[in-house]
Amino acid sequence: MVSVTNIAELETPSLLIDVDRLDANIQRMAAIAKAAGVDLRPHAKTHKTPEIGRMQLAAGSPGLTVAKLGEAEMFADKGFDNLFIAYPLWGEQKWERLCRLADRITVRVAADSLEVVEGISRTAARHGIRIRVRLEVDSGAGRTGLQSPEQVLELARRMESLPGVDLVGLMGYGGHSSAAPDIDGVKQIGFQEGRHLVGIAEMLRAKGFAVPELTVGGTPSGPYAAQIKGVTEIRPGTYVFSDRTEVVMGWSNLDQCALTVQVTVVSRPTATRAIIDGGSKTFSSDAAVRSPGFGVVRGHPDFSIVKLNEEHGMMEVPAGTHLPIGTRLQVIPNHACVCMNLHDRVAAVRGDQVEAIWQVAGRGKVQ
Ligand SMILES: Cc1ncc(COP(=O)(O)O)c(C=O)c1O
Repeated sequence: MVSVTNIAELETPSLLIDVDRLDANIQRMAAIAKAAGVDLRPHAKTHKTPEIGRMQLAAGSPGLTVAKLGEAEMFADKGFDNLFIAYPLWGEQKWERLCRLADRITVRVAADSLEVVEGISRTAARHGIRIRVRLEVDSGAGRTGLQSPEQVLELARRMESLPGVDLVGLMGYGGHSSAAPDIDGVKQIGFQEGRHLVGIAEMLRAKGFAVPELTVGGTPSGPYAAQIKGVTEIRPGTYVFSDRTEVVMGWSNLDQCALTVQVTVVSRPTATRAIIDGGSKTFSSDAAVRSPGFGVVRGHPDFSIVKLNEEHGMMEVPAGTHLPIGTRLQVIPNHACVCMNLHDRVAAVRGDQVEAIWQVAGRGKVQ
């Protein structure tokens, strides 16, 4: 790879991570978890990058969360030895891969059905190992998760007679906090998520189950859920960069956002239109909550990226703006996690200096 020392030498579109902002974000969440007395197990689907995962471990995290087995395998190959797969794994091939992974590292997995738990159990028994399972409950996000305390109890009881699986805890996720109108709404959802999980754990304990691990939430609801006594772990992911959505939700300001896409103005068809060399293949088409458009141009609040094609970003600028072809801009994406997943590598920068090029080693690992 060509060695580049200044961001001006990078071809565009290119992803930049401001290492000082990244580090500040990592320290901020580590301090929140420490103050609440919970473990921080960052969701690494946001960055998918070993160098960043190592920074999170250095800040005190015991291990990482991932969504996909492929991400878990990548991190294990890179030396990470304590991972939680927060996703229901279905199918013989996945259960085989899970057990092979568990032969190498400490792994926990989420499940919310007897079908998945039985599959894991059968495969683990064949391997002669035990898999740690955290049962997922629906915290109100309306996605995965057992729907009632009775269902959790029923599945916990069925697990008792299954070989190869240990019920080690419960998982919640307040993903619906993205629909909250403001940060106070996010806070209430976080508190509810924590109380809901602790309530179910207390019921299970009264029936003789230990359930020592209670893992909750993302950014920005997780820090509130963490304040509920009994919660043991938070799993925020996006905090590591923050993005436009998190800014709108009240988690950070734009200046704290560590991830930007460096783009170039490649066409100026009219006085009020500029075309940048990043489109949906560069940013993703994800919208930000409660905001039109596709990202925020750093330092130019009056520019709006109003439409994306795959390779083109259509930007509206005020008439009279001096913005010649060739101008470089940095765009804070709407949704950092999907943006990272679109790029092979990212430049770690301090100011305009490129310190390193990191491989986004977990990108595209959708299986
Ligand atoms: C199960 C689970 N936990 C944690 C997170 C992290 O959330 P965030 O990216 O908002 O920090 C996610 C995000 O999708 C998730 O799906």
